[in-house]
Amino acid sequence: MTVMIDGKALADEIVQHVAHDVLAFKLKHKVTPALAVVLVGEDPASGVYVRNKIKRTEQSGLQSIAHYLPENTTQSELDELIDQLNRDESVHGILVQLPLPAHLSEPRVIEAITPAKDVDGFHPENVGKLVTGQPVLVPCTPLGCMIMLKRQMDDLSGKHAVVIGRSNIVGKPIANLLLQADCTVTLVHSRTQNIEEICRSADILVAAVGQPLMVKEHWLKPGVVVIDVGINQISLDGKRKLVGDVDFNGVLSKTAAITPVPGGVGPMTIACLMQNTLTAAQHQLG
Ligand code: GUN
Repeated sequence: MTVMIDGKALADEIVQHVAHDVLAFKLKHKVTPALAVVLVGEDPASGVYVRNKIKRTEQSGLQSIAHYLPENTTQSELDELIDQLNRDESVHGILVQLPLPAHLSEPRVIEAITPAKDVDGFHPENVGKLVTGQPVLVPCTPLGCMIMLKRQMDDLSGKHAVVIGRSNIVGKPIANLLLQADCTVTLVHSRTQNIEEICRSADILVAAVGQPLMVKEHWLKPGVVVIDVGINQISLDGKRKLVGDVDFNGVLSKTAAITPVPGGVGPMTIACLMQNTLTAAQHQLG
């Protein structure tokens, strides 16, 4: 029987933990840790993510500060807001929701956020700390994946972990975290040859490509643990449906454990953002 890794239940547990630590933080410092969330434009999916983040922030006892900017915001207006949030001592975490409208530069925005408040862990300084094995603020989705894996497996050491996808947000950071957990890591991507054969040797498979139902049953070794990061909208029998990068129903005969979509990685990402906001505030106030 395949174990369903219940991301929602684990995320609730993390948020309860964070809420407990936030109370202790408030008593000690007489300050409420605060997360500023910036959304530029009208992208409906980003709007849903941001609303969920704000809801969870409040459940965690953190303060949320939302900035909704119009689609035609200029780079210098956005730079100005980030600069103001960087200097504001009552703000401990800053998150600018990606993707940004095409006329704005994502690298410039990521580098503008002061590393101590970079709760996404995307700033080159935080990426460098992760790669050199001294992580402080780690990207939320990879952090959530690692928590789920560690709950599921007693020891990751020596396991062959295959990560599909090389994005800065998921693929690259999760490969680094798996390496730090002593896995043997293979990162595969759209130009990889023999992708199915490589996946068949995986003890742990992390799919983060954004290709609906790409990973099939014959790609997998019996007993594999699968983490499905994909969130794809498809039309099935005339209805819209959310599916992952893994053919969930097709692979269950092979998997020892798997994360469902929805209800797997998604809720964990937001819970880890709460954890990172608290961690950032703890570092700032000592
Ligand atoms: N868009 C999709 N995932 C993320 C994320 O983890 N952080 C931010 N800032 N934007 C995203």
